[in-house]
Amino acid sequence: MHIRPRRLRRTAAIRSMVRETRLNVADLIYPLFVCPGEGVRREIGSMPGVFNLSVDQLVKEAEAAKGDGITSLIIFGLPETKDNEGSDAWAEDGITQRAIRAIKRDVKDILVIADNCLCEYTDHGHCGVIENNDVANDPTLKLLGKTAVSQAKAGADIIAPSGMMDGMVAAIRSSLDDAGLSEIPILSYAIKYASSFYGPFREAADSAPQFGDRRGYQMDPANVREAMREAELDVIEGADMLMVKPALPFLDVIRAAKEEFDLPLAAYQVSGEYSQIKAAGRLGWIDEERVMMESLTSIKRAGADLILTYFARDVARLI
Ligand code: PBG
Repeated sequence: MHIRPRRLRRTAAIRSMVRETRLNVADLIYPLFVCPGEGVRREIGSMPGVFNLSVDQLVKEAEAAKGDGITSLIIFGLPETKDNEGSDAWAEDGITQRAIRAIKRDVKDILVIADNCLCEYTDHGHCGVIENNDVANDPTLKLLGKTAVSQAKAGADIIAPSGMMDGMVAAIRSSLDDAGLSEIPILSYAIKYASSFYGPFREAADSAPQFGDRRGYQMDPANVREAMREAELDVIEGADMLMVKPALPFLDVIRAAKEEFDLPLAAYQVSGEYSQIKAAGRLGWIDEERVMMESLTSIKRAGADLILTYFARDVARLI
C-alpha cells in the first residue's frame, strides 16, 4: 500500500494545509429583526439568541456585530400596524426605513441589505395584494418597486426581494432606475422554496399567513429544473446576485445554481435550520458549535459564496 490518504490527515497542521473550503467573516450576512418601541430586546422563543430589537437596540447590535468582524446585515421589519396592502413597507418613516437610517448614521462601514417583501406588513400575512382570495402578482410589483425606492433612499446598500412574485426583479430594477438609483444592486431570492423550515421566522417576524399557505408563489421543494428557470429569469431581469433558500436541505440546488450561473451566489440558512441545531445542542444531543461549523462549511462547499445565518456572530468570533 504505497497510496495512503491518511498521510494527509495525521495532524491538525497538515489537515489545515489541504483543507479545500474555509469560511470567511466576509461571507456572512447577519439577519436582524427590528420592532417598534425603545429599549426593546425581546428574545424569540423558538430562536434562542435571536431578538426583536427596537431601533436603538438594533444599532447597538449592529455595532457589536461589527466588533465581531461582521461586514453586512439584512434587516426585517415588524411594523407598528399592518394593513391590507402592507403600506408600512414603503412609508418614509416605516420601521425598516427608520432602522436603516439609524444604522447608516451611527455605524460606520457596514453594508445594509433590505429584505423587500410585504408579508411582515400585511394584516393577512401574504407576500402581496389579495384579489379573489389569491395573491395578485402584477399589482404587487408596483408596491415592491415603491418599497425598494424608499429602502434605498433610507440608505440601503442592496435590495433583496424575497416575495417570489413573477417579474419582481425587473419591476424593482426599473423603479430604482427611474428614481435615479441605478447604482443599487439587487440580491434576488431567486430560488425560494415553500419550506416548513421557515416556521420559527414567522414567529420572529410575525408574518404567518392568516389563510392558506405560500405554495402558490414559493417553489415546490421537489423541483430543481424549475429552480434553474427561476434563476435564469432573474438574471435576464437584471439581478446582480442570486440566492437559494433554505440552504442545507437544498445543497444540490446550490451546486446546480453555482454551475449554471456566474453571478455571486448566496444561500440562506433559515430559521428552522438554526432552531434545530440550537434545540439539539441544548438537549446535549449534538455539539452545537461543531454542527454549526459543519453545516455552514457544507453550504459553502456546495457552492454558496455568501451565507445568511443567525449564527453569524458566533462564527465570526470562532474564525
Ligand atoms: C418573507 C421571508 C421569509 C423568510 C425570509 N423572508 C419567510 C417566509 O417566506 O415565510 C424566512 C427566513 C427564515 O426562515 O429564517 N419574505
